[in-house]
Amino acid sequence: MSQEVDVIKLMKQEVGRIAASRVKSNSIVGLGTGSTSAYAIEYIGDRLKSGELENIVGVPTSFQSEVLAKKYGIPLTTLDAIDHIDLAIDGADEVDPQKNLIKGGGAAHTREKVVDSLAELFIVVVDSSKLVEQLGSTFLLPVEVIPMAVAPVTRALEQLGGKPELRMGIKKDGPVITDQGNFVLDVKFNQIDNPAQLEQKINNIPGVLENGLFVGLADVILVGEIEDGKPKVREF
Ligand code: A5P
Repeated sequence: MSQEVDVIKLMKQEVGRIAASRVKSNSIVGLGTGSTSAYAIEYIGDRLKSGELENIVGVPTSFQSEVLAKKYGIPLTTLDAIDHIDLAIDGADEVDPQKNLIKGGGAAHTREKVVDSLAELFIVVVDSSKLVEQLGSTFLLPVEVIPMAVAPVTRALEQLGGKPELRMGIKKDGPVITDQGNFVLDVKFNQIDNPAQLEQKINNIPGVLENGLFVGLADVILVGEIEDGKPKVREF
């Protein structure tokens, strides 16, 4: 493993651990998707196993987070069975100074937005490489699209100034298929000046299910950093 990968792993682990330490007994927890959320899920499981936490139910944001929750012994529920979520912990691909996010690097942003937006407290867990001055500067914006509408949605996104690319599978020929059975267009925008407006404009295109802009949803951002060779977590 390269040193850089190692350092990022340390930051993700620590921020996942700190987020998991904020979960309280008797609560309903949204379980995010991605490598940082995976550490939070693991640590919540550890706290349940040790008896430090009791009576937790999780709401997974993807097939993958469901698999992890089962592996670490976290009981699960669905949105049909509950009327609120106390806390959600989820990762992000970019975070701007206003706490707006780009998500969807794992193609899970549609379910993530449903769960994270229902949470009374939404904690975002990232390593410091995810902090940007402006959204869209390092990461393409994921847009989930129903398969029959890919061509017109591509044209509509181009009219909004984007350059969409169909996300292709790795170790699978053809496009990535989401948990809902749809495709993902990754869109390059030169500048996202007004994330709230762009989020709405994209979601207004017929055939778009959801895009990865999360505006005004995050309450707390926990950032994993390395200081003097050791991981630490800062909150903003
Ligand atoms: C999943 O679709 C994404 O929204 C993830 O939450 C995001 O990509 C962060 O992933 P990492 O924690 O693996 O960086």
